[in-house]
Amino acid sequence: RTQTPAPGARARTEPQLSSVITRHLVLAAAVLQFGCGGSGSAPETPPDPQPDPGVQNLYALGPPGMPVGVAVPAGGFANSLLASPARQTLVANHFSQLTAENIMKPSYLHPDEGTFFFDDADELVGYAQSQGKTVHGHVLVWHQQVPDWMTAFTGDAAAWKDMMTGHINGVVQHFAADDIVTSWDVVNEAFADGDSDGDGLYDYRHTIWYDNIGAGYLAAAFRAARAADGNADLYYNDYNLAGVPAKLSAVLQLVDDFASDPDPVPIDGIGFQMHISLEWPAIGQVRESLARAAASGLKVKITELDITVNTEGNGDPGPLTMLTSDVALRQQQRYESIVAAYLDEVPPDQRGGISVWGIADVDSWRRSQNAYEWPLLFDDDFAPKPALQGFADGLSGH
Ligand code: XIL
Repeated sequence: RTQTPAPGARARTEPQLSSVITRHLVLAAAVLQFGCGGSGSAPETPPDPQPDPGVQNLYALGPPGMPVGVAVPAGGFANSLLASPARQTLVANHFSQLTAENIMKPSYLHPDEGTFFFDDADELVGYAQSQGKTVHGHVLVWHQQVPDWMTAFTGDAAAWKDMMTGHINGVVQHFAADDIVTSWDVVNEAFADGDSDGDGLYDYRHTIWYDNIGAGYLAAAFRAARAADGNADLYYNDYNLAGVPAKLSAVLQLVDDFASDPDPVPIDGIGFQMHISLEWPAIGQVRESLARAAASGLKVKITELDITVNTEGNGDPGPLTMLTSDVALRQQQRYESIVAAYLDEVPPDQRGGISVWGIADVDSWRRSQNAYEWPLLFDDDFAPKPALQGFADGLSGH
């Protein structure tokens, strides 16, 4: 695994000395030939061909203050950001917020009951702080990457609730003071992928939390998070919200229930994971879903964007074993249209920002599902892909 930028990537970002010299020579020749500042028509110098410098600073193209984030490996992972100058350069240049891809999940932060392990997360949060970046906390309550002791926990609903809120409190309080972790995914993926009773709302997922505490675990989790940090934005996060209306309906119903509680349950935002593909969901569906979420009045954040390109259900674009230039172009356009949809449909004061789920294709979790995937903005050698330009155009077109 190479740790330095590919030569091609470097060439795109360094000043092109030869073209600078050429330009000065052309200008000098024009001054000699026509004089300077005299009357008469301006000399017709040939158009000055400037090399396209590419995207230098992705997040600066977006609305001021709107986070443009990235999920990063850290801790003991071989591809840790903290051990990779190539990744650090990309993160420094292009992203204003970090999400820990794994190391702030319960199995990492809370390996034994009552024993928290914060070293790796503190190192990452400290790094973010040193770089002037914020952190989106991921994740407090989920059914995956749970430590064994939680899975094996025994007790009644009250004991389970205390155990869950004890975890939330221990973690959120730890990061509350320095204001780098500015938001949290409080609950992740609480809904299943079906509507068994036909009420138009997807069902609650049967997890250790639902099965042991009941649906009230969600309200309890959000209340505990708010009690531990009065400032951080609290998100409900899930996948397929942009493509499955009945799943989004279930989330919006939850938000309504929170608001109509006699003692309203604190929640600040809805996180759309957005693990999507070239054609699914259709862009109209994405826009409609973002608009529905924004109509709740809460913040809307794209938390885990990646765009797979290999064969879709209908066989398009056909099985790929390399990223062809026409598919890379389709991915560029898709990134642009998703970012543009977000900025169109989510009003400025409700924009929690957009984060991609990984730095370079070589890091992407989607590779564990299909080795032939290229879902992110940078390639296996850390060089920018057309996708980066697409994201940038989506940001700067607004
Ligand atoms: C994934 C990570 O990317 C993988 O490295 C890990 O093995 C499993 O989890 N939805 C989420 C993320 O909320 O936490 C998941 O991250 C991807 C799907």
